[in-house]
Amino acid sequence: MDTSTGSERSLDASADLYLELLARVLTRSAFLDQEVRDVEPENWPRYVERAVRKRGYRVVRPFSSGEIREQEEGRVWPDTAETMVGLERLRNIRECVESVLDDGVPGDLVETGVWRGGASIYMRAVLAARSIRDRKVWLADSFRGLPPPDAKKYPADEGLDLSIFPELAVGLETVKANFARYGLLDDQVEFLVGWFRDTLPTAPIERVAVLRLDGDLYESTWDALSALYPKVSVGGYVIVDDFGAIKACKEAIHDFRAAEGITEDLELIDWTGAFWRRLR
Ligand SMILES: C[S@@+](CC[C@H](N)C(=O)[O-])C[C@H]1O[C@@H](n2cnc3c(N)ncnc32)[C@H](O)[C@@H]1O
Repeated sequence: MDTSTGSERSLDASADLYLELLARVLTRSAFLDQEVRDVEPENWPRYVERAVRKRGYRVVRPFSSGEIREQEEGRVWPDTAETMVGLERLRNIRECVESVLDDGVPGDLVETGVWRGGASIYMRAVLAARSIRDRKVWLADSFRGLPPPDAKKYPADEGLDLSIFPELAVGLETVKANFARYGLLDDQVEFLVGWFRDTLPTAPIERVAVLRLDGDLYESTWDALSALYPKVSVGGYVIVDDFGAIKACKEAIHDFRAAEGITEDLELIDWTGAFWRRLR
């Protein structure tokens, strides 16, 4: 029997609309049909090109339907969106957070690997939509990109050098500004600045209800799990963004689960994301 009052039900409907809309804004999926991409003018006479640049004009083209789909599915590094994880993985965040709230599973929410902050912003938004004041969202990142692979220590990372991409280095102030843009920068948001190996083992996090891993590398996945899995509550979730997309990440997950005797089912979210619920 539904015992909620009319005003509680309309609050639920408003929260639902807010979170759906926010997912579509954070991924830009609401506006991708209006999004454009710069193109380099080809074979234009030099004087036309010079005149265009002098006036500060840009030459752009609309997104193709394939590009729209790729961004919605979280398969690309988007030009402007605050997250690259796509709609399905944002929905998974919401489901996991709502599940721990509904079941009273204690702990904070953590993302290791935040980039522009979009997925973490969404975690904070789910708390805000339910007026939850006693849980925090922790953001762990170097805020200057990935470390170069340490193939001696982590052979699975051999050749996986994502440190060379400036697009993956997003500074702390930019991430804070992105939270502020959505009215979600407050004392429930905490930043752990530095390499996971340095920040996570001593992070002042007591318990974790949802741990979201998005650091791509074997090393980053391993460091986050070894520091934080012991703090994940029974009933809490571990979400792995790169399980399908990056072989090294999948290997780290298999190795860690085998080493710790973790047998809970690993469920797939979409073409790359996966998660499990800690049951013991
Ligand atoms: C794929 S991006 C994260 C995407 C993000 N979750 C989103 O919503 O779009 C990976 C991030 O992990 C960070 N990162 C990866 N390995 C790290 C490590 N060992 N220490 C600190 N930061 C790391 C990078 O700086 C980068 O911001």
